[in-house]
Amino acid sequence: MSVTTDTRAPAPARGLNALGDLSAHLLGVLERGGADMSQLGVPAQPEPEDGLWEDVAVPQARARRNIWRNSILDASHDEYLSFRLDHLDENQKPNTLRKWLKSLVEAKKLGARPSHLNLIMTGNIGSGKTAGAITIGNEAAERGLWTLFVKHATYLTWRRPDSAPRNLKAWEVRKQFVECDLLILDELCGEMDMTATEFARRETIDLIESRIASGRPTAYTTNLRSRRQPGSQGMGVVDILGERLLSRLESSAHLVKVVGPDRRKPAKPLDW
Ligand SMILES: Nc1ncnc2c1ncn2[C@@H]1O[C@H](COP(=O)(O)OP(=O)(O)OP(=O)(O)O)[C@@H](O)[C@H]1O
Ligand SMILES: [Mg+2]
Repeated sequence: MSVTTDTRAPAPARGLNALGDLSAHLLGVLERGGADMSQLGVPAQPEPEDGLWEDVAVPQARARRNIWRNSILDASHDEYLSFRLDHLDENQKPNTLRKWLKSLVEAKKLGARPSHLNLIMTGNIGSGKTAGAITIGNEAAERGLWTLFVKHATYLTWRRPDSAPRNLKAWEVRKQFVECDLLILDELCGEMDMTATEFARRETIDLIESRIASGRPTAYTTNLRSRRQPGSQGMGVVDILGERLLSRLESSAHLVKVVGPDRRKPAKPLDW
């Protein structure tokens, strides 16, 4: 049997001195009859943070920021976490996004339903829709809203048994995406066509309908048109949601058309 010896260096004397200093300081404070918590370095109330209202405690707001961050990391979109409304281009309509977010925060404070429950960001491939939508989420999470991001196709996958990360059950996945204060649903109907399964249609309608019914806001991005264009082969969002739900969605939404070139295209086409 081997015998191990403790080879760690003794604790530096400075640490002990510092402890001695601290207890002398605490004793001094108590002897002076000052059981004032601020003198002990313990704030009686959490410090207020910018943009938070009094119903949201600072630890809760921090937890919400982490939840938002994790949903972005799950989607491998870390590169957008630093985006803020001030960094967006005019074609991403930062003023409309800012006003909408402000109305959501106000409505949440008052426990009211926002005047425009939804925001729909449309536009061609690579125009900056996801970046714009995640920017709203970054700022919403900073203001204390419980905000989540998910790509529509990912949500459908996670709703299948044993398919979600962190051992989440399928019902827990639905619960969190239905109940969060703000959902960013990316690429609405993105990987669907006319052969979409009954499961996909049912789950999509259930999520959107439940959020509208409970007055919870959602920002959608999509490359699809709402309705099929005459003469085109492409699908419209209406082909999945149906006319009734689409009109409920549209009637309570700001439409933000992000116009502009595909930002991912190289300036010079690759020759291959
Ligand atoms: N305001 C901005 N400033 C600089 N780069 C940006 C800005 N907005 C978006 N981008 C960059 O442009 C690229 C495309 O953006 P994004 O992914 O948001 O497009 P999209 O419209 O969602 O594309 P898709 O239709 O493929 O989903 C990304 O590399 C992103 O980092
Ligand atoms: Mg996108």
